[in-house]
Amino acid sequence: MYVQTIYDSRARAHISDQDIVQITAKAQPYNIANGLTGFLYYDDWRFLQVIEGHPAQVAEVMKQITKDPIHHSVKVRLMNRTMVRSFGGWPFCALSASDPDLRRVVKLMGYNDLFETNVVNAIKVMKRAAGRKYRVMSIYEKEALFNVHLTEKPETRLSLTENMLGLRG
Ligand SMILES: Cc1cc2nc3c(=O)[nH]c(=O)nc-3n(C[C@H](O)[C@H](O)[C@H](O)COP(=O)(O)O)c2cc1C
Repeated sequence: MYVQTIYDSRARAHISDQDIVQITAKAQPYNIANGLTGFLYYDDWRFLQVIEGHPAQVAEVMKQITKDPIHHSVKVRLMNRTMVRSFGGWPFCALSASDPDLRRVVKLMGYNDLFETNVVNAIKVMKRAAGRKYRVMSIYEKEALFNVHLTEKPETRLSLTENMLGLRG
């Protein structure tokens, strides 16, 4: 059983390419080591991220992300149990709202802005955009992404956070 969380937040300063490079440098190895997968959508001032994995790992990374001074007003919009990952194979993927492939998918599905759609539809768009991005990736990019094996951690004792949130079922 996995948990999938989606939250949005506001940046303290205009989001730069450098911010995304820094977030990716931290997130990618951490997510790989902890069996987390997901997708980060952002525009100039806002983030929308889906994170999925085992409950304890999702709770822990959410604690770290919430504390990150890059952003504030982190609002969890959905937290659900799932047997299947929506972004399996993507330890971390960040796409700007201005990315042409993403824009095409957003338009095709009849939306303007993912921050304005409900989260279920936002996840559908991100899933489709991830599939599209994968199709246009070079063989080297694919190799770099998929040569890394997700290390699933063994089930651990119920943590306090899981207990409080009733995450493990
Ligand atoms: C919008 C956003 C998304 C992030 N996503 C992740 C993530 O998926 N995985 C991760 O390990 N860190 C992520 N981070 C980075 C963490 O917040 C934090 O910087 C990282 O865990 C390292 O913390 P440290 O510098 O205190 O060790 C994200 C940060 C932001 C601002």
